Amino acid sequence: MKNSAHELRQAFIRYFEQQGHQAVPSSPLIPQADPTLLFTNAGMNQFKRVFLGEETRPYTRAVSVQKCLRAGGKHNDLENVGYTRRHHTFFEMLGNFSFGDYFKEDAIRFGWEFLTETVGLAKDRMWVTIFREDDEADRLWKKIGVSPSRIVRCGEKDNFWQMADTGPCGPCSEIHFDQGPSVPGDDTPNGEGDRVIEIWNLVFMQFNRDASGRLNPLPKPSIDTGMGLERLAAVAQGVYSNYDSDLFTPILAAIAKRAGTGYGAHASGDRSMRVIADHLRAITFLMADGVLPSNEGRGYVLRRILRRAARHGRLLGITEPFLYELSGVVVEVMASAYSELRAAAGTVSEATRGEEERFIATLDQGLPILTDLMAKTKSAGRTILPGTEVFKLYDTYGFPMDLIQEACREQGMTVDEAGFERAIEEQRTRARKTGGFEQETARPAVADLAGRLGATKFVGYDRLEADSVLQAILKGERMVKEAVEGDAVELALDVTPFYAEGGGQVGDQGVLVGPEGRVEIKETIRPAPTLILHKGVVSKGRIREGEQLHLTVNSVTRQDAARNHTATHLVHAALRDLLGPHVKQYGSLVAPNRLRFDFAHFRPLSSRDIDDIEATVNEEIRRNEQVRAEVMSLQDAVANGALAFFGDKYGDQVRVVTVDSFSKELCGGTHCRHTGEIGLFRIVSETGVAAGVRRIEAQTGSGALAMMKKLEAEVRELSELLKVGPSEVINKTRKVMAQLKEKERELEELKLKMASGSAVTSTAKTIAGVPVHVQRTDGLDVTAMRALADQLRDKLKSGVVALGAATDDGKVVLLVVVTKDLAAKVKAGDLVKVMAAEVGGTGGGRPEMAQAGGKDPSKLDAALEKIFGLVETSLQR
Ligand code: ALA
Repeated sequence: MKNSAHELRQAFIRYFEQQGHQAVPSSPLIPQADPTLLFTNAGMNQFKRVFLGEETRPYTRAVSVQKCLRAGGKHNDLENVGYTRRHHTFFEMLGNFSFGDYFKEDAIRFGWEFLTETVGLAKDRMWVTIFREDDEADRLWKKIGVSPSRIVRCGEKDNFWQMADTGPCGPCSEIHFDQGPSVPGDDTPNGEGDRVIEIWNLVFMQFNRDASGRLNPLPKPSIDTGMGLERLAAVAQGVYSNYDSDLFTPILAAIAKRAGTGYGAHASGDRSMRVIADHLRAITFLMADGVLPSNEGRGYVLRRILRRAARHGRLLGITEPFLYELSGVVVEVMASAYSELRAAAGTVSEATRGEEERFIATLDQGLPILTDLMAKTKSAGRTILPGTEVFKLYDTYGFPMDLIQEACREQGMTVDEAGFERAIEEQRTRARKTGGFEQETARPAVADLAGRLGATKFVGYDRLEADSVLQAILKGERMVKEAVEGDAVELALDVTPFYAEGGGQVGDQGVLVGPEGRVEIKETIRPAPTLILHKGVVSKGRIREGEQLHLTVNSVTRQDAARNHTATHLVHAALRDLLGPHVKQYGSLVAPNRLRFDFAHFRPLSSRDIDDIEATVNEEIRRNEQVRAEVMSLQDAVANGALAFFGDKYGDQVRVVTVDSFSKELCGGTHCRHTGEIGLFRIVSETGVAAGVRRIEAQTGSGALAMMKKLEAEVRELSELLKVGPSEVINKTRKVMAQLKEKERELEELKLKMASGSAVTSTAKTIAGVPVHVQRTDGLDVTAMRALADQLRDKLKSGVVALGAATDDGKVVLLVVVTKDLAAKVKAGDLVKVMAAEVGGTGGGRPEMAQAGGKDPSKLDAALEKIFGLVETSLQR
């Protein structure tokens, strides 16, 4: 196809490479080290620090095709998707960038040349918009040949671009394209409808907006441009809707097929299919970058997108999970440009299916109630759904609010938002009163303490001891003035060196000593943001409120926890180094005796990956780098490249823990001073905990050493048992195993030989001309008995064979074989049944071969003896 999306991507990169630009790969959808952003929303995101002059690169011109998502955050197109032909949640942004290199004139020339010459769009279809007072842009556009009547000046809303509430920004100039009168809409830029659409935004980056809203000039004027590939593809392919371009037609065809309809048949069905097509791309790309559905942050946005798509599936009559299958089509269409999709395909499909199933269960319950509520409201002549009823649907049935709103919008109805808010507030109050929710603060005693006492002052980053005043003693849920030996208590103190559980690190242990007694502290917790409680048992004497206590943290467990915490940061950094920046921390546990780190990744790690991680971490340990902790503003932290994720909760002032240039994370935990203190790092296991989430468990310091010691002791014991040096253990084991196998084979052969050859335990008689061979085969298993019976039968040609073995576990096996010529009269199954009864068992089989088990070996000879009489009777019949 001419001007296929893939060709356009390549042509774009090629054109700008020819203009001296460095091609840079797309960064992931999860912004790296930038908590001001929920998702990557523009090509310039990964260059933010370069624009700000905080980082330099070996190039000053760059070009990229960037994965973007605009749902949630400053740039949010979610609600428009489906309703217009040009909005998307996920899209690809073609962009060229100048970092203090060229400015307006070249940016305008490149843009114009690429569109009109490389792609071949008609010049007389173009419009440009410029910022109100930007006369320079006006002049430059005219100079390149754009008619003055086609240049429109606009205000800040349209022509001043900034990536988030803070960050690089500047006036911009947009290129729009008129698709002609057959497309509904205004014939000028920024009007109604899809007729004239913006395709390219050229931003003249000149400022950095700070948190106070002030515009500070950038070190050098720069260029940032962004063009939606979907729109360019539509225009270049001469179709009027992004959804009619080759990026979407295969996806829409698959959706239509699944729904048993066609795209283009009904307006409302088409809208649903567009929503699904768009959302499928977002779901697939988000999951491939490590986001999974959850109730907060990015996971919540993904959940909303997925559920919205699922609901539109319902509107099309699809009631089963289906998105998970169709995500495969997205992979097919996009993997040539984004190879990460192939690796993630299985996880995407699995996680999508799980979420669809959960959602269907929710909908099955809630939809009839919503439909009913809407019908009742309508028939009462109203268009506003009562807030309390909506709240019930939302709270009791977990029905998503945005879906209620969208269902309303489709029917020209609205929700009584104020009433809904009131219902939520009442619910919160009730929860507080009954103490049913938020566990700890719901404990009235804790809430009371948190309210009454000032914040507990934590002084334990660089001290393990402190003197402090005992402010309150909690015994169970009661506040008491004193506690005595044996009492379990929770203590509030004004100052403490004890680290309270948080950020994955467990709380400190230690002792508190007062004038008359002593408390062993087993656990330190933070049940409310400002309150630290020390949980333990009075081990001697008594303690009284108001007393001065001397607090000592157990330095061994603290130091062990610190080793594990610093090691956790090193693992995180090593994983991102080795596997890529999609590795996102999902959770961690830092205890004195172990560490656990959960992260987003699609595949189990190979043993080589594990070796690599271990080696990298141990190398950082040997370098004995200083571990630095600094408190700074969140902005500075991010500007310094600290790993932090939007959606995580951070205060204005944050603590940044840095190890050399290797790791930098926001963290409130306690750490080693130098990495060398970790001593040794060993991974104990690597497992999967959920679709797309892996878990590493590891040990450090003496724990890791103990683990090695244990392994070593096991090897030593093996080497003693095998009587070789430790380095020979493997060879020797292989040899012994091979010998064993050979011996087993020999043994089987021997047993068989003995059994068939021995006359001692076998008897042969001829009954009415039929030879009957009876034999004890103790020690042979059933397979060997069968082999023996076959041999004997072949030898006899015509006759009966009965074998009986007492087994090692005190049971009996009987086997009877009758040659074919006799089987009509003498039935092996009948014979064995009678014999089995003798040894307290049962059995049966075919006329030519039958088998039985029994419980009484002492009767085995008698049972075997029976065969002669039985054969005789059978032959007489
Ligand atoms: N960063 C600019 C935009 O997103 C180009 O529109």
